[in-house]
Amino acid sequence: MKIRVGNTHLNIEDRGTGPPLLLIHGFPLNLEVWRPQIEVLSHSNRVIAVDLRGHGQSPATPGPYPMDLLADDCAAVLKSLEVQQPAVVCGLSMGGYISFSFFRRHPKLVSGLILAATRAGADSDQGRASRDKAVAQTEQLGIRPVIDSMLPILLAPNTYNENPELVQVVVDIVSQTSANGMVSALQGMKDRRDSTQLLGQIEAPALIIHGLDDQIIPMRDSEAMRAGIPNSQLEIIPDAGHLLNLEQPEIFNRIVTSFINQL
Ligand code: MLT
Repeated sequence: MKIRVGNTHLNIEDRGTGPPLLLIHGFPLNLEVWRPQIEVLSHSNRVIAVDLRGHGQSPATPGPYPMDLLADDCAAVLKSLEVQQPAVVCGLSMGGYISFSFFRRHPKLVSGLILAATRAGADSDQGRASRDKAVAQTEQLGIRPVIDSMLPILLAPNTYNENPELVQVVVDIVSQTSANGMVSALQGMKDRRDSTQLLGQIEAPALIIHGLDDQIIPMRDSEAMRAGIPNSQLEIIPDAGHLLNLEQPEIFNRIVTSFINQL
């Protein structure tokens, strides 16, 4: 379903009834990465998953896409869908960066935070230089170089080597990202704020989930969020990498359900 947001429209999925759960995907993904969550969690929740602008079926507008802009897009989606109660906001990786912006800008819309495979800190100088390189490559050659470099590290080594079907699912998802969307999101991530100081001010309950074999976000980043957010818990999923919700969907869904039931 397409929803008008500002000067563009976003593709979203809105399934089920119950406490609202907003799912924000990572880079360079789209809402299909949440398929195992949409199918199962919509039995107990109103699950709202968004294709961020320039990703999936949402068209690319001129960039860059600051995390605040993408957070405001998500808030506009909730408003447009007339979601009446605060939502559990669940962000995966870049979706986590957006969740911090969402909390900063729309705290009243948040009943709980789920921070999966993400970090509070800003990019290091080296990280910012890598973003510039990826932007230049994408502008010259399209989405392929970034996909080729990310694919082997998006999944745990075991998943990547032994689960070709899941690898294909991920290839299909990332291949839908437009070059403009990719460049604009890279620029937005590069300039995102450091949310470390925000952690202590997060009053909402928070669930932090980390894949033991994550090759993109180190465990210490999840531990730092756990130490910084007063009312938080950290769950570690074995045999899972950066796309932990796709790699271990049953465990991920069980952890999320138990968190939502505690709220
Ligand atoms: C993501 O999965 O969203 C990205 O890997 C995050 C990042 O590049 O910092």
